Amino acid sequence: MSEIVLGVSGGIASYKAAELLRLFTESGHSVRVVPTDSSLKFVGAATWEALSGKPVQTGVFDNVDQVAHVRIGQSADLIVVAPATANTLAKAAHGLADDLLTNTLLTARCPVVFVPAMHTEMWEHAATQANVALLRSRGNIVVEPAFGRLTGKDTGKGRLPDPLQIHALAMQALKPHQQDLTGIRVVVSAGGTREYLDPVRFLGNRSSGKQGFALAEAAVVRGAEVTVVAANVSLPVPAGVDVVPVVSTEDLRQQMQRLAPDADAIVMAAAPADFRPESFVDAKIKKNAEGSAPDIKLVENPDILTELVTARTSKRPIIVGFAAETGDADGSVIEHATAKLARKGCDLLVVNDVSAGRAFEQADNEAVILGADGSVDHVPFGPKVALAHAVWDAVSQRLD
Ligand code: CTP
Repeated sequence: MSEIVLGVSGGIASYKAAELLRLFTESGHSVRVVPTDSSLKFVGAATWEALSGKPVQTGVFDNVDQVAHVRIGQSADLIVVAPATANTLAKAAHGLADDLLTNTLLTARCPVVFVPAMHTEMWEHAATQANVALLRSRGNIVVEPAFGRLTGKDTGKGRLPDPLQIHALAMQALKPHQQDLTGIRVVVSAGGTREYLDPVRFLGNRSSGKQGFALAEAAVVRGAEVTVVAANVSLPVPAGVDVVPVVSTEDLRQQMQRLAPDADAIVMAAAPADFRPESFVDAKIKKNAEGSAPDIKLVENPDILTELVTARTSKRPIIVGFAAETGDADGSVIEHATAKLARKGCDLLVVNDVSAGRAFEQADNEAVILGADGSVDHVPFGPKVALAHAVWDAVSQRLD
């Protein structure tokens, strides 16, 4: 049983924190709720006291004899602030301590997860983004808000993610793995490569780079030196990560080959285009008078993962592949993946079942991690960052 502090700041989404609290207590943890004064305008102290079975206070001058402003943070195994408003993020980033929650954050030595929820404008404001970057650079986990209906009629980025996802992430953050990659150099490929036909058209794929960036973020939290080779990713760069942008499979191949000799672990989360047009046309291809479509001959790209495996001369780097699979008449997802792991020769293969478009462009993922040593690890449906930690758990074991 762990001691979890649930910080609740003053946003409309604070009612969802009641469900999160339930999920924490149902999974056997002891939860102390520390609301801010303004959050009590949305959900009252009675709700928190009844659901947690513990008294609730917001200021540092109540029950002073118990020195709550120091004790709560010191004894916590995990702090989750959900929702975290722009104001609370700002105070936490700058070390202000004008209520019990901000004092608790300053005395904590445990992992801290902020789950922001606010209007899109507030989230995107340079001040908030700078505060988020600062918090992340100190090893705090700041979750990206979800996209959807906000208070009132507007829709956009800023919603509190589903409490189930927050719970899954929090359970990962509780694991004692925080600094096990200290001094380890990792290279992660992310996104999808593009093969240009002419200056405006390309062959590409639906990979967004979210999983690769989540891997990078998780590795940073665990102390690794992280380089991401990012193929056409338009996501915010996780704090503390070195990004090398690339476009085509050949660009990605060159960068991975350049970085591999110094890496301790490589994760090929990118989706490289398997084929490219045989030739690139310098000017935009025009429609012709007869209305016939151009004949585009494709040639196969090299398999970067296989080349990296073949080129290594020792057990380092540990090499991890990803496989997006669908089951068919010839075999199940796992059967295809097991054959792929053997074919590619990597140490680990992270297998996503992509039947019916699952996994692409989504914040959540479910996977199986297959090891060349025969290990099979099911990672339940949850945020991509939770899968990322499961991948690093497997890598970390093999680095020992
Ligand atoms: N990969 C790679 N180079 C390529 C294609 C894929 O390094 N040209 C890597 C991906 O980054 C991923 C793994 O190989 O880690 C599996 O990719 P996948 O597309 O599933 O493999 P393929 O060999 O293309 O298998 P399939 O025949 O099922 O398409």
